[in-house]
Amino acid sequence: MPYTIDLIAAARPNFMKVAPLYNALAALPDALRPRLVHTGQHYDRNMSDAFFSDLGLPDPHAHLGVGGGTHAEQTGRVMIEYEKLCMRERPDCTIVVGDVNSTLACAIAAAKLHIRVAHLEAGLRSGDRSMPEEINRIVTDSIADVLWTPSPDGDENLAREGVPAERICRVGNIMMDALEMSRARFEARQYARQLGLAAGGYGVVTLHRPSNVDDPAQLRVLADMLRESARSLPLVFPVHPRTHKCLVEFGLWETLKQPGITLLEPAGYIEFMSLLSTSAVAITDSGGLQEETTYLGIPCLTLRENTERPITVTEGTNRLMRPGEVPHAIRLIHERRWPQGRTPQLWDGRTAGRVVADLLRRAPTW
Ligand code: UD1
Repeated sequence: MPYTIDLIAAARPNFMKVAPLYNALAALPDALRPRLVHTGQHYDRNMSDAFFSDLGLPDPHAHLGVGGGTHAEQTGRVMIEYEKLCMRERPDCTIVVGDVNSTLACAIAAAKLHIRVAHLEAGLRSGDRSMPEEINRIVTDSIADVLWTPSPDGDENLAREGVPAERICRVGNIMMDALEMSRARFEARQYARQLGLAAGGYGVVTLHRPSNVDDPAQLRVLADMLRESARSLPLVFPVHPRTHKCLVEFGLWETLKQPGITLLEPAGYIEFMSLLSTSAVAITDSGGLQEETTYLGIPCLTLRENTERPITVTEGTNRLMRPGEVPHAIRLIHERRWPQGRTPQLWDGRTAGRVVADLLRRAPTW
């Protein structure tokens, strides 16, 4: 009987973490059988299908079709549907990635059926429990059997929370595997040129955190900041569905339609990496972008009060700031006075290989 491994894919930031690992597992002899499970947390074509095709992922073995809802509704539906799948076709191990609601839900459902749970991108902590992702990280890590971390701060956080050392393995950052796997394609894509923008002559904006977009006063401050910044640097803004909904509802959407701001639908992975890789700066509240910009050496202005990825600040190009500080930061970048940063250890495009090696080492005793 092959050793069956479920890989949980759910929302946009999961797909690039799952793809390199799926490829590495699928390349092994038949002893291991990876199965892709899509929970359906993200369901729009450009939030999901585009990533499957850009990353060369096959159709999932199972699609749970849960869709949106409140946190409890979404988490609960994923638990119910994933438990049914496990009871019908039991895997030997469930691998969850990142920190979205489906990560937590599948980890709980599997752990209660005594299925081994491994968490890729374990140990990250912002220290901010008002973020839904922080709750997802803490709970997932507390029940996972194996914790694959991207950086030393992850190991330290887990040790402080009492996780035994033998469960922790530092494997590096899987996002860089996806980036390197796709580099030739996104470099050839030249999406900025298609939009009429010169390489190095524009900024990329992404915003979707509830703390930034759900509050009308905060979103207004951010919209004002974007309009002011666009006077000195053209901005491209692929707008997340949550953000679009809030901008429209709060009467801010039309105010962003001004010269210097290009509003786009959410971009696919190849389009987005093409845009990011030739940009001058990223203005964002995303976790993944803080890491990708550090790896690409592009300045990153993070509109948050904390980050679960502190290594992007201590070693990389990332700085946390308030909206009012962005125009000054853009001036510093123009004047080439932004710290260059360096690539953290094990962010080298070979993380999937280290995950598979650790899995093969542990699997015989499971
Ligand atoms: C989720 C993750 C977040 C991740 C983000 C990336 C959690 C708690 N949050 O947040 O960590 O950074 O994904 O996008 O899991 N929607 C659509 N189409 C879609 C997906 C969502 O219209 O394909 C709408 C939903 O109906 C909802 C809103 O967007 O109104 C938010 O979606 P949801 O999945 O709840 O959370 P995200 O904000 O995307």
